[in-house]
Amino acid sequence: MASIFTAEETLDPAYLPPRLVGREKEFRQVLDRYRSAASKGLPHHLLLTGGIGSGKTAFGRRLAQELARPDGPRGRPVVSHYINCWRRSTDRLVLLELLRSVGVYLPDKGYGVPEMIDILEQGLRKAPAPRLVILDEVGTLVRQETKIVYLLTRSGEVGLGSISLLLIAPEDVLAFLDAASRSSFGVSRHLALPRYAKEDLRGILAYRAGLALRSGSYPDELLDQISALAAPTGDARFALELLQGAARAAEEGSAPEISPEHVRAMQGTLRPSLSEEKLEGLDDTQLLVLLALSRTLRGPRTRTPTGTVRLAYSAVAEEYGREPVSRVTFWRTVRGLEQEGIVQVDPARPGRPGRLGMDELPVAVLRRRLEDRFPSRPSRKT
Ligand SMILES: Nc1ncnc2c1ncn2[C@@H]1O[C@H](COP(=O)(O)OP(=O)(O)OP(=O)(O)O)[C@@H](O)[C@H]1O
Ligand SMILES: [Mg+2]
Repeated sequence: MASIFTAEETLDPAYLPPRLVGREKEFRQVLDRYRSAASKGLPHHLLLTGGIGSGKTAFGRRLAQELARPDGPRGRPVVSHYINCWRRSTDRLVLLELLRSVGVYLPDKGYGVPEMIDILEQGLRKAPAPRLVILDEVGTLVRQETKIVYLLTRSGEVGLGSISLLLIAPEDVLAFLDAASRSSFGVSRHLALPRYAKEDLRGILAYRAGLALRSGSYPDELLDQISALAAPTGDARFALELLQGAARAAEEGSAPEISPEHVRAMQGTLRPSLSEEKLEGLDDTQLLVLLALSRTLRGPRTRTPTGTVRLAYSAVAEEYGREPVSRVTFWRTVRGLEQEGIVQVDPARPGRPGRLGMDELPVAVLRRRLEDRFPSRPSRKT
């Protein structure tokens, strides 16, 4: 059996993709600004913000990679230092890390901040170059009384040479900086990455699946299914986790391709939302509509035309001795289930009827749970 993966490591969180799909314009703009500053020997500072999984870290690391290449015959390569401040939320720890990046390894204790800055200055003098310091997850650091951001924004004046800064945080943290540092991050120096919409996530998934998976091992619909699941948060990391998990499940089950059931199983594991208690809270019509939907979602399909589900619902209602509800009530029931986050509704488009899906857990599992529940469950008025 051919493997699902061709390069699984490219779905690893540590892997940095050569392209950031849909962020090309922002990336080019930021790269140009840093390059043009470096060519003049001037520093440039930027604050980059965005939600969880919006690609901030990847953006910063790609920037470092691009800046390391000389830009044309007169361009100067920029030496970057990437520091994640989440666990280094004091000036001392950030300085220790910066020192390491110039090859100076100091013990954690025994040196004061001013002394460390002197040693850093000597280290930087030995290898003069335009530099970029990336402080990722800088939120906690700037909420302390940090001096390091101030020092780095004044690098030229304090003898540290030309150091540019890229601060990365989920939200605007400039208010926490002292006025002098803040003034070096003017209005144009804040880039807020917009949240990924469903179509953006689909583009990212298509690109990353192309790198990691054998072509033909994932039906096209699967990318729609995953991007719909990740769209409410716009989190690309979660979308990739779903893809990788589903692919691994298919591989372990020796399946020829990834199926929507693999994705549902991952969603049910990573973000369980359709609990027994939630099912317990649904009325009979809702349960029967869900049962009908789960019976129509077989095989590689992630969605069923709404009309087909309604027909199946009528059959299921009859099977369990219930009077089928009207078309209007059926539709209201579907909307209710959508609001509960249990079913996905794709509205009708010209040439394509409306469709329903259920991506919260494997359809086979849901069907079994619902069939176990009926008909022993006492009938309840809707
Ligand atoms: N535009 C994109 N193209 C390709 N891959 C992307 C893109 N955006 C994000 N990714 C991938 O999605 C994952 C999450 O991105 P990243 O870690 O950069 O997000 P983040 O904004 O730093 O998240 P957090 O707020 O949790 O730190 C990474 O694996 C990254 O490679
Ligand atoms: Mg990050």
